[in-house]
Amino acid sequence: MVLGRETDPTHLSLTLRMALLLFVCLSLFWLPLLASPAATADSGSDSWQQYIRGPSTNIVYPVQILSNYTTGNVTNPEGLLQQDGSTILSRAQPSTPPSWPTGTPPAVPTIVLDFGINVVGFPRISFGGASSNSPGVRLAFSETTTYLTETSDFTRSDNVLGDTITPGSDQFAVPAEPYLWTDTHGCLYGDQVCADGLHGFRYMRISLDALASDSPYTEAYGEVVIDSVSLNYTAFLGTPDTFTGWFECSDAELSQMWFDAAYTNDMVIDTFRVNDTDPRGAASPSLIGKLVIFDGAKRDRDPYVGDLAVSARTLYLTHNVPEASVNVIADLADHQRADGWIPPASINNYTLPLFDYPLYWVVCSYDLFVYTGDSAYMQKYYSTLQRVLNDWYPSVTNSTTSLLDKDDGGASGYGDYAFLPRSGTITYYNALYVLALKNAASIATFLGGHESDAADWTQRAETVSAAINKYLWDNSSGAYLDSLSGIVSHAQDGNSISVLAAVSSPSQTTALLSYLDSHALPYGNPFYDNDSLGAGFSERVYAFISYFEIQARFLSGSAATALDQIRRMYGWMTSHDPTVTFWEGIGTDGSMYEGAYTSAAHGWSTGVLPALTNFVLGAIPTGPGFQTWTIKPIPGDVTWAQGVVPTPNGPLSIYWTAENSSSLFILQVQVPAGTQGDVSVPVSNISSEVTVDGNQVWNGKAEQGSGASFADGYVTVPVQSGAHVINVN
Ligand SMILES: *[C@@H]1O[C@H](CO)[C@@H](O)[C@H](O)[C@H]1NC(C)=O
Ligand SMILES: *[C@@H]1O[C@H](CO)[C@@H](O)[C@H](O)[C@H]1NC(C)=O
Ligand SMILES: *[C@@H]1O[C@H](CO)[C@@H](O)[C@H](O)[C@H]1NC(C)=O
Ligand SMILES: *[C@@H]1O[C@H](CO)[C@@H](O)[C@H](O)[C@H]1NC(C)=O
Ligand SMILES: *[C@@H]1O[C@H](CO)[C@@H](O)[C@H](O)[C@H]1NC(C)=O
Ligand SMILES: *[C@@H]1O[C@H](CO)[C@@H](O)[C@H](O)[C@H]1NC(C)=O
Ligand SMILES: *[C@@H]1O[C@H](CO)[C@@H](O)[C@H](O)[C@H]1NC(C)=O
Ligand SMILES: *[C@@H]1O[C@H](CO)[C@@H](O)[C@H](O)[C@H]1NC(C)=O
Ligand SMILES: *[C@@H]1O[C@H](CO)[C@@H](O)[C@H](O)[C@H]1NC(C)=O
Ligand SMILES: *[C@@H]1O[C@H](CO)[C@@H](O)[C@H](O)[C@H]1NC(C)=O
Repeated sequence: MVLGRETDPTHLSLTLRMALLLFVCLSLFWLPLLASPAATADSGSDSWQQYIRGPSTNIVYPVQILSNYTTGNVTNPEGLLQQDGSTILSRAQPSTPPSWPTGTPPAVPTIVLDFGINVVGFPRISFGGASSNSPGVRLAFSETTTYLTETSDFTRSDNVLGDTITPGSDQFAVPAEPYLWTDTHGCLYGDQVCADGLHGFRYMRISLDALASDSPYTEAYGEVVIDSVSLNYTAFLGTPDTFTGWFECSDAELSQMWFDAAYTNDMVIDTFRVNDTDPRGAASPSLIGKLVIFDGAKRDRDPYVGDLAVSARTLYLTHNVPEASVNVIADLADHQRADGWIPPASINNYTLPLFDYPLYWVVCSYDLFVYTGDSAYMQKYYSTLQRVLNDWYPSVTNSTTSLLDKDDGGASGYGDYAFLPRSGTITYYNALYVLALKNAASIATFLGGHESDAADWTQRAETVSAAINKYLWDNSSGAYLDSLSGIVSHAQDGNSISVLAAVSSPSQTTALLSYLDSHALPYGNPFYDNDSLGAGFSERVYAFISYFEIQARFLSGSAATALDQIRRMYGWMTSHDPTVTFWEGIGTDGSMYEGAYTSAAHGWSTGVLPALTNFVLGAIPTGPGFQTWTIKPIPGDVTWAQGVVPTPNGPLSIYWTAENSSSLFILQVQVPAGTQGDVSVPVSNISSEVTVDGNQVWNGKAEQGSGASFADGYVTVPVQSGAHVINVN
């Protein structure tokens, strides 16, 4: 069958998008002259769409050839881009094998294709025919040019104890007749001529070549005609119509980071399929066929609940597919161990022992409840919540200190998000425990009928908080110790989460945030202050853990340092190959922290998106399904922001500006029916006048009956459904 040439809608839209990008770049010079956006919280406004990154259809084409990698006899390589004219890879049959008496053999014909951004799915090659000797093609994939070689930066066969069927490249024997090949997992002949199938990559290297071990089915010479190369993109296709929430502000770099995070998360939302998820005992029958959020696109293709503490929030704020989160956390709850412990993921048949991830299950359940209002889930798994908090964690608590202690209760072999060799009593686990207990108490209160649980968990959170402060605060550094008994070091995770869980006092918060910033690096803030626990730790940056620090900075009112940290860390990733998508971890000198193995598109690194929505736009849910919420912009140097936060009752639309000459600050909000909340606006002077819909609610003091109050430089007023304008004059 001769396949017709495919039309190429992606190509056109990419060109258009590049033109738009150019426009944005040029606009930056004129930013002071540009008018602010329409002064409405208008969900019909679509200027935000210019920032959308992902492909516009499932079939994606390369955007350029990296000609500096082309070797051998390749005719018309550009034909692969223009979809016009075939590309021919040709290599003469050796005349006197096995060696060439007169010099080196002809180079292996090779082309490297650049897809422009990181993508994920099944590569497809439309072959126009080949010589009749079944010449081979070998494919290798990489997210960066740094790790672009004749084998992939990572491929499924690289999994230790996985189903290794390739040496790191994908092989195919090209038939003489035209053929559309989709690279899927498996072998053409027994265990020969094999390919790994799905790949996450930006660069694709194609060679006319064959493995000696694939003889006699394919040969490393002959002629191969390629009509087109494309990708069947399998992850979530985040086209403009799929965005139920969005964000835009006066700083185009921040706006773009929000959408880069959205695309990074889209790349890890996919159907759980046996042959392209992590092979290490992860292919659970209860997940196969379901939409999930994986950790990474090219690697770590298994949903872990700790990662969802970030990626599920990103999901709720971007697209209306909460099932990608529910399918995971419900499945993990269904696999709760008899002693109450909850597995972190399906890997190793739900047995990977992590100490912190059951706490993230609690946090994720709270987030699902407040962002989506899924009370059916919460009712069904309430007993799971009771068992993990009332059975398992008490079994690993030191009765002398009241703190979680890994050396108690047989948990010393348990790991955490980075498999850190920590033992004994660790601030991070305990701070996260306090946060989980507080979330659980809120869940109990929202559901009703669980007053004693709410009281117990609140009480336990206070006890653990007090114990953290008693045992783990290091007054000489002004930060929490990492560990009660280990070598002295201070970690970003425990310190940051102590702020989020309100373990630290305001003065401790100020001290520890300044301590963390004193170790700042050009590419973010490191997760340890020194290398006592592991080599290179003081130079390693996790966007995952940094999200907690960024939130801590906003919560303490320090938008300047929060935005500085965002710009350093996310700015580093957006300006380094592969750009756009956010990495699993950053290592020494800003490198990929685990070399080629590092995932350059990791859902847990998308915290900039919820951070900007929650703190710069300012909306945070405080009740199930946003029935109640708070809006409190913390602007820093941002001068206006607008966006939509999706709620089960409809869009919560917000626009604020500090640029208007008629008012110091204007906030417009469209409140969905059936919801209500508190709006806080910054007042530089407590004597300022604040109006709601033109009615004065504050003028140095609250107007009678307005419900307005003042704290920490903000006037807060209760607001009901409908459209409202709050002015600070
Ligand atoms: C400034 O405020 C006035 C009055 O509320 C309004 O008419 C105008 O559109 C606003 N301009 C901007 C740029 O927000
Ligand atoms: C080839 O060109 C690409 C794109 O310009 C560049 O990123 C890469 O570093 C170059 N590689 C080599 C080996 O020259
Ligand atoms: C390169 O390949 C083309 C197409 O097969 C062929 O016509 C040409 O002779 C080859 N050139 C060399 C130098 O082998
Ligand atoms: C998974 O790949 C194997 C080959 O390695 C194949 O036999 C099997 O049918 C594939 N399963 C699915 C569900 O595609
Ligand atoms: C792309 O891959 C998905 C998942 O295997 C499959 O369902 C779909 O049919 C493929 N689409 C095309 C056009 O090949
Ligand atoms: C996974 O564990 C369950 C429960 O312990 C067991 O029934 C099942 O056979 C295991 N599956 C595999 C593939 O080992
Ligand atoms: C509990 O903590 C105390 C104080 O750090 C320690 O001395 C004791 O050994 C711990 N108990 C157990 C069982 O680990
Ligand atoms: C903690 O440190 C601060 C400043 O270094 C000092 O003023 C204070 O007295 C110290 N508190 C304790 C309990 O040591
Ligand atoms: C880490 O810092 C502590 C003091 O804060 C010091 O005692 C320890 O020796 C340091 N370790 C390393 C490896 O630098
Ligand atoms: C605050 O506003 C009042 C009334 O406009 C004014 O008298 C006072 O000087 C202002 N205070 C500051 C610190 O700007």
